Amino acid sequence: MCGIVGYIGDRDACPILIKGLRRLEYRGYDSAGVALVGGDGSLNVYKCKGKIDALEHFLADKDTAGTVGIAHTRWATHGEPNDTNAHPHFSADGRIAMIHNGIIENYRVLKDALTAAGVTFRSETDSEVLVNLIEYVRDTEGCTLEEAVRLALKKVVGAYAIAVVEKGNNDKIIAARQSSPMAIGVGKGEYFISSDASSIVEYTHDIVYVEDGEIAVIERGKPLQLVTLDNEEAEYRVTKLDISISDLEKGGYPTFMLKEINEQPRTIVDCIRGRVNADSGRVILSGIRDNIDRWLAARRVVFVACGTSWHASLIGKQLFENICRIPAEVEYASEFRYRNPVLFPDDIVIAVSQSGETADTLAAISLARKAGAFVYGICNVIGSSIARATDSGTYVHVGPEIGVASTKAFTGQVTVMAMMALAIAERKGTVSKEYYDEVAQGLLSLPEKLKEVLELSGQVADLAKIFTYAHNFIYLGRGYNYPTALEGALKLKEISYIHAEGYPAAEMKHGPIALIDAEMPTVAIVTPDVTYEKTLSNIEEVKARGGKVIAVMAKGDATVPGITDYVIEVPAVIDCLMPIIVSVPLQLLAYYIAVYKGRNVDQPRNLAKSVTVE
Ligand code: F6R
Repeated sequence: MCGIVGYIGDRDACPILIKGLRRLEYRGYDSAGVALVGGDGSLNVYKCKGKIDALEHFLADKDTAGTVGIAHTRWATHGEPNDTNAHPHFSADGRIAMIHNGIIENYRVLKDALTAAGVTFRSETDSEVLVNLIEYVRDTEGCTLEEAVRLALKKVVGAYAIAVVEKGNNDKIIAARQSSPMAIGVGKGEYFISSDASSIVEYTHDIVYVEDGEIAVIERGKPLQLVTLDNEEAEYRVTKLDISISDLEKGGYPTFMLKEINEQPRTIVDCIRGRVNADSGRVILSGIRDNIDRWLAARRVVFVACGTSWHASLIGKQLFENICRIPAEVEYASEFRYRNPVLFPDDIVIAVSQSGETADTLAAISLARKAGAFVYGICNVIGSSIARATDSGTYVHVGPEIGVASTKAFTGQVTVMAMMALAIAERKGTVSKEYYDEVAQGLLSLPEKLKEVLELSGQVADLAKIFTYAHNFIYLGRGYNYPTALEGALKLKEISYIHAEGYPAAEMKHGPIALIDAEMPTVAIVTPDVTYEKTLSNIEEVKARGGKVIAVMAKGDATVPGITDYVIEVPAVIDCLMPIIVSVPLQLLAYYIAVYKGRNVDQPRNLAKSVTVE
């Protein structure tokens, strides 16, 4: 949510900043802006409503000289998306410019105090309050910029990643972080700042992650310096980032979402590589092996997650209960963090997050740790805040996910959960060798089966054309595929703006069945498992009320086509892995409906990837 970039070095800052913003546009695209310090010390701030294209157009006839600069792409929290509320914000006397990702919770109190001291404000944002506070401290204390930032931040309650530059000083950027991501790329005689390290890999793979409560003093020609809010020197480590630029490009696809859907056969290979042995069929995960005593003694696992990761966790619950006989609960991180949840010392809290930056999930982790629980992370982004805040974990390893709607991360998360369940079950002795082997072989078979599923793209696109008219959809599934139904409905809502509900198929008759008519299509997942026959009956109930049914069924099923209107035939795998297969045509269905409706699938309205505010 909101992307920030910064550059200081020998090159022209503006093109680097614009490129960085384009890479971060997935984090928000309400408005964008840059602040550049010229060689003569002039400070030029340019910003406007809209996407990066609009900013680039706006900059065409401006003076963009300067080798120091900061830039921002906004996802609005305080104040509507317009030119004035766009970042960078500058202080009342125009001397200091700042970009901010996060929320200053006590901004009203600070604003009142500054207003009483004679400060006037241009925008409605909380961020403008902070830059004015920095200026106020700088003036009243007569201190350096870094000291003013530090003292101002000590008065702030909230979340921030900020970068600050000052008129008359083209040698310095001050940056700071609290609960919002920030990485600093270390180049040869140059530094890069970004909300997401992957956005600067074309310049450097050497990354320093700024930690909560740290301020970075980034000076031309000097080593990077980090200090705490209490003005103590903070040590840091330079990490090598293992991402290539091609991971960040569309690679010939019209959208990142379509690229990421199509990558799934390969991303599942990456996810299971070195973890499921193709010869022996054994699953080894270091995060389980190294903490095996804790896993064997676990009284319960509690998944905390948001959105798609929460849906994956609902599947994780079933995997853990069915395969390792460990009781499991699934919590919305945003609810969990504000309750007083009962946590036992032998509980394991599993935090699931693609980005590893979701604010609510981070807060849930901190609550769980305070309660003494062991916290395990399932993250995709390497080195992310959640990956660093957890005691141990397993990376999903599906590569950067840039499309706002999560696709390959979901199938990767479920794959990781299945591998975890098998690795624990083997040690606990809760499954037979035959079952273990069937799931392990199932995991190994996924890439080929996903290739087969992707061959259905044309057929799914044709179906999407038929149903583009619909205003409402219902998705039904049971057992392992109830969460898949929720996920299918979420995909459709997010990118097509069609209202969709996911429901456990049998629950439908307790209310939603009233909605069924010829206008509201039902997507029914009906694949071989213990509820197969029951789901057939649920489909009949929809048909009896004039509903149109699109079924996702296992290849070769002779019954389902006879009772439904349209079928999508997918290859079968053992039931607990079926969501990984089934979710792909649902992603494609949502994708093509959105495309036919003319939606921008990579940048759906009101959304941003990586929700770093509550
Ligand atoms: C949906 C989607 C969101 C995220 C949610 C959690 O397509 O992308 O619902 O799943 O914001 O994000 P992470 O997994 O990054 O914590």
